[in-house]
Amino acid sequence: MKKELVEHIKEKLKEVINQKRYIHTLGVVDAAVYLAEKYGADLHEAEIAALLHDYAKDFTEEQLKGYIKKHGLEVDEVLMEAYQLLHGKVAAHIARVEFNIHNENILKAVENHTTGAANMGKLERIIYLADFIEVGRNYQGVDELRLLAEENLDRAVLQAFNNTIHYVLSIGKLLHPNTIHGRNELLQQVKDLRGDLWQK
Ligand SMILES: [Fe+2]
Ligand SMILES: [Fe+2]
Repeated sequence: MKKELVEHIKEKLKEVINQKRYIHTLGVVDAAVYLAEKYGADLHEAEIAALLHDYAKDFTEEQLKGYIKKHGLEVDEVLMEAYQLLHGKVAAHIARVEFNIHNENILKAVENHTTGAANMGKLERIIYLADFIEVGRNYQGVDELRLLAEENLDRAVLQAFNNTIHYVLSIGKLLHPNTIHGRNELLQQVKDLRGDLWQK
């Protein structure tokens, strides 16, 4: 059953995303399953969430906005303006209605991978990070992020937030508030953790 779902998603994926994106997706699956094993998350959930995370990434602006409107999905102004960010929300809805997936860990991980969020569950953090460190990624800072991912999940996710914020500022695009909330919350947690260590 699990294997059938994986194969079914892969077949459909090939129809909706280009080859490059498909290869990226398989890279995210590998990275997500690896992180799930390392940090104690469910491997099957990691595989399914990774497979679906960019399902709607090749949708056009019209398709994304049309989908949101047709299904009455709630979105804020920043998402509508920086419409590429919508592909997470749309993919999560497709996961629910087309693939009959109702596991909230998976759905939230798919939905929030574009912006991040405060209080992300373990699978959300894993998918968010896996997207940045999969084997096909090549950008300044990726090796440091991969090393950090080996050491500490939260520190790595915090670094991924920092990288993203730098990048979004550098290209002059809108920064989604959830990215700031996610970064602030993790920064606080990492600080608290450090405080604990110092006190011991
Ligand atoms: Fe994505
Ligand atoms: Fe991705």
